[in-house]
Amino acid sequence: MREKYNNILNSRLAQNKSYIEKELKKILSDIAAPKPLKEVMLYAVLNGGKRIRPFIISEVSSLYQVGPSIYKYPCMAIEMAHCFSLIYDDLPCMDDDDLRRGKPSVHVKFDEANALLGGASLLTYAYNILASKNFSIEDKKKIALINIFSNAIGHKGMLAGQFLDLEAEKLSKKPTIKKFNNIQEKKTGLLLAFCCYAGGFIGNASKKELEVLYEFGLMLGRIFQITDDILDKEGNQKLLGKKVNKDDEQNKATLIKIKGLDFTKNELSKFSEQAKNKLLLLKKDTKVLSYIIDYLCSRTS
Ligand code: IPE
Ligand code: IPE
Ligand code: MG
Ligand code: MG
Ligand code: MG
Repeated sequence: MREKYNNILNSRLAQNKSYIEKELKKILSDIAAPKPLKEVMLYAVLNGGKRIRPFIISEVSSLYQVGPSIYKYPCMAIEMAHCFSLIYDDLPCMDDDDLRRGKPSVHVKFDEANALLGGASLLTYAYNILASKNFSIEDKKKIALINIFSNAIGHKGMLAGQFLDLEAEKLSKKPTIKKFNNIQEKKTGLLLAFCCYAGGFIGNASKKELEVLYEFGLMLGRIFQITDDILDKEGNQKLLGKKVNKDDEQNKATLIKIKGLDFTKNELSKFSEQAKNKLLLLKKDTKVLSYIIDYLCSRTS
């Protein structure tokens, strides 16, 4: 059974990854940026990565019979915004990481000014992609989607989460669970919630279904970040492509710090069951989405 889940998931993930990477390469090759800036942008996006966010959009979109010629736009936009977030996350003034996706982080490969400018250019380009005429959904829906995207990323979204993550490093006491939940939901959960919501939204899902998808995305975010925190403790640097054992060093607000590793692993199984139950509410064939939960809990990279 496990074998079968691995085969199905890995093959769909790999298929989507290669499709999205081809599209990203195409869309980035056309930009009229100064050559060195374009080089930064290409490096930051095409330097590896699991492409899990585009994969989630594609799987949810497929549930609603939306094809790649439409879903590729939010897929590219979210991956560019994610890559922007990684460039900034690694900067010396943030997590100060010099390894990302098994290669030098963007500010190490280039320099800090180029990392900032390349990152901001990617985030800006993500908006161009969503606003593009070729993204053929109703204008009204497009504007609504761009707003949801903005909210997931900006001052009340991922960037707020990153702000709170850095602020919490300075606490002398352990953070509360409430604080931790707020940080992880914002810094990681909201982008994953966007992915689930966007797939349903472009597929004209009902209001009720969209609510379920959004909540499911938040649950995936929680599972995703908790696994990331466990991997910081128990993962393999070579497989992960990033440094390990950094969270304690930097006094990061993680569930492991608050409650310990065993409790955290237990919570992960509990959250994964809850997420699977949430999927049942969609009353659709959500097999692959439930495989994504297992993948996110057991990933090694
Ligand atoms: C890493 O995200 C940042 C977090 C939100 C924890 P991913 O693990 O999805 O990174 P890539 O894109 O595969 O490198
Ligand atoms: C980053 O969380 C979340 C982002 C919004 C990029 P982490 O700081 O734990 O991610 P890694 O471990 O550096 O990938
Ligand atoms: Mg960080
Ligand atoms: Mg980091
Ligand atoms: Mg981490």
